[in-house]
Amino acid sequence: MRYATRTGNVASVATDCLVVARRAASGVAAALGVEEQVRLVLEGTKGRVGGVARVYLAKRPSRLLIIGADAKDNGSAGSLADFRRDMTAAAGAIANLDVRDATVCLDDFEAGDESDVYRKARIALAAVAHASYRFSAYKSKKPTPAKLRQVAVLTCRRAPARRAAAHAQALDDGLALAKDLGNQPPNVCNPSFVAREARKLGRGNANVTVSVIDERKMAELGMGAFLSVTRGSATPAKMIIVHIKQGTKGDKPVVLIGKGITFDTGGINLKAGAGMEEMKFDMCGAAAVLGAAKATIEGELPINLIAIAAAAENMPGSQASRPSDIVTTMSGQTVEILNTDAEGRLVLCDALTYAERFKPAAVIDVATLTGAQVVALGSHASALYANDDDLADAVADAGDAAGDRVWRMPLWDEYQKAIDSTFADIKNVGGRAAGSITAACFLSRFSKAFPWVHLDVAGTAYVAGRGSSGRPLPALFEYLLKAASANG
Ligand code: BES
Ligand code: MN
Ligand code: ZN
Repeated sequence: MRYATRTGNVASVATDCLVVARRAASGVAAALGVEEQVRLVLEGTKGRVGGVARVYLAKRPSRLLIIGADAKDNGSAGSLADFRRDMTAAAGAIANLDVRDATVCLDDFEAGDESDVYRKARIALAAVAHASYRFSAYKSKKPTPAKLRQVAVLTCRRAPARRAAAHAQALDDGLALAKDLGNQPPNVCNPSFVAREARKLGRGNANVTVSVIDERKMAELGMGAFLSVTRGSATPAKMIIVHIKQGTKGDKPVVLIGKGITFDTGGINLKAGAGMEEMKFDMCGAAAVLGAAKATIEGELPINLIAIAAAAENMPGSQASRPSDIVTTMSGQTVEILNTDAEGRLVLCDALTYAERFKPAAVIDVATLTGAQVVALGSHASALYANDDDLADAVADAGDAAGDRVWRMPLWDEYQKAIDSTFADIKNVGGRAAGSITAACFLSRFSKAFPWVHLDVAGTAYVAGRGSSGRPLPALFEYLLKAASANG
């Protein structure tokens, strides 16, 4: 998808499809000389938030999409949340229309100041990109390529619109990578595949280096927890590290860590059959952090970023870990594995300890960690845990701005004793109660050396039967933009 910004008069903009707000529709209709058609359509449709009225015209623009609420219901400028809903609906319509390009008239949405234009442009461009995403790598008959090539925003404020287009493009590049990785089947997308995809990020870019820690190196580093997960699998684990040096030399990096279980059978604590296919998405955390790396590179964000993908497959092979096995983590703490299906925390804990060497400004880990997170929050918000209030607020604010919400959960000391072990330092499960919280408690014991946020995205990273959502990459990217802007 190409993103463009335009200025000038709605009546003279060359486009196949024009998107305007309901309150501006009659003015635009007059400018285009199609008052009668637009009046008829508006009379026949009730305007509501998230509603789209379509007008088919004889000449360019051949489609006019009128979005949003009736003027009488919405005398004041709508909220950004309303605009997001309106644009999501319009984007769905655009993706199914036979048009080569679409233009969204921002000024008609009563975009106020510069930051409002910026935000609305971001929302409009992202909505169309999201609606047009397809994953068809494994269709033997290639679907005809989408006709839609370009989406533009029309506004008299060019500077914020251009900035928004650049950011939207970078994020979309990252999202395409994250979604594609998530949607790949697990017989193809194993840890080595993830490593190969990550290596592409470094190609021909002097500021980016990609290193891969193999199982031999993991053993040398003492990553007994990480290695315990991959033991039952024939495909080797990889810890993949993307180093991006685009910030001030010597500035502490932000470190992102993603759970990359390319398939989670549960191991010896084998999962039930129904729905097990969803566990190909158990590497969506890793996909999101690699997507964040891609977006940071494409958007040339002035920041030092390290993205770590902790990739392994959880299988019940003859060498697999048994419930009651005890392993020693890289931190020196011992873990009693009471459930081999609580494997995510086992790869993440060693990745967290490994991250200490980078002296991070902040560490954010992302994981499809627990079914309990899905029970608690469903698909509307990712769960956020933190050992640092400022970092928690920064990530939560980023999620709000991006329309990719997170909700902070408690990490009180009282929950910690649920994972104290009789035979080792820690057990890897805490019982039925508060499962997402006790999983976070486990990770917190490996995150004492830096400000840290954990995002449990089990309910948000994918939609069962539909595919990867790319979440929480929009929130991460927003956080990184803010962190980078502090660097000028
Ligand atoms: N990958 C799963 C969590 C998951 C569940 C992700 C549903 C997406 C949708 C994780 O490895 C897991 O199996 N967690 C267990 C932990 C339990 C054994 C303590 C769970 O949530 O049941
Ligand atoms: Mn599991
Ligand atoms: Zn898992």
